[in-house]
Amino acid sequence: MFKKSQFQIKTPAEFNLMRKAGRVVALCLEEIREQIKPGMSTKDLDLIAENIMKKEGAIPSFLGYHGYPAVICVSVNEEVVHGIPKENKIIEDGDLVSVDCGAIIEGWHGDAAISICVGNAKVEHKELCNITKEAMFKGISAAKTGNHVGDIGYAIETFVKSHRDLSIGILEDYVGHGIGTQMHMPPSIPNYGSAGTGPKLEVGMAIAIEPMLVLGTNKVHVLEDEWTVVSSENSFASHWENTIAITENGPEILTKL
Ligand code: MF3
Ligand code: CO
Repeated sequence: MFKKSQFQIKTPAEFNLMRKAGRVVALCLEEIREQIKPGMSTKDLDLIAENIMKKEGAIPSFLGYHGYPAVICVSVNEEVVHGIPKENKIIEDGDLVSVDCGAIIEGWHGDAAISICVGNAKVEHKELCNITKEAMFKGISAAKTGNHVGDIGYAIETFVKSHRDLSIGILEDYVGHGIGTQMHMPPSIPNYGSAGTGPKLEVGMAIAIEPMLVLGTNKVHVLEDEWTVVSSENSFASHWENTIAITENGPEILTKL
């Protein structure tokens, strides 16, 4: 007898619906990446995502989530995650903008984030952004059956720490997560850890892998709006995320075009 998994195991048909949700998320992020420029407000970016979701028949999963008031999160510079789009928050040349987006199709979720260096960004901010993106891919490569959740965090952490030229903090209070019929499901997927520890990865699981990195220490706090997570040292941060299916052929990115 097979032991029932403690996690939600998806059928191939269910992965297909998650691919559809993931495609809409990718469409939103791609359009924002193309349109973003100095002078736009973070609310303008929210409207881009809102319109695409309407057109594609997807439900924005963030809107109303624990009272969250927007379709996407836009976190600028020292904001790490969960920045609320605002008409009076204007994007400037050199900003590092992280955009996080989630969509639902027929009850199934997709969740992804990108970071964008707008215009003439500082070299070290571009480097932070590239390291965060690559750290995400290191984590994705480790997301295969036979491995444990800790192997993902270990891959991310060792990659980040291999960059001796920059001091980079990995957020500990915010982590990746299982995903499926809800945005946040077990297991938690930390961006640090030890190889071979934690739950085993099984075919049919879906997880969101999302390194959140800050220059300097990993100290963060939440602003008075009760959402925006900022670096306590006011240093720049980057966030990249994809929703991944664990398949018998290895990890598959679901949040893609
Ligand atoms: N997408 C975020 C995550 O990666 C969660 C967004 S919180 C919300 O887990 F309130 F904005 F929905
Ligand atoms: Co997520």
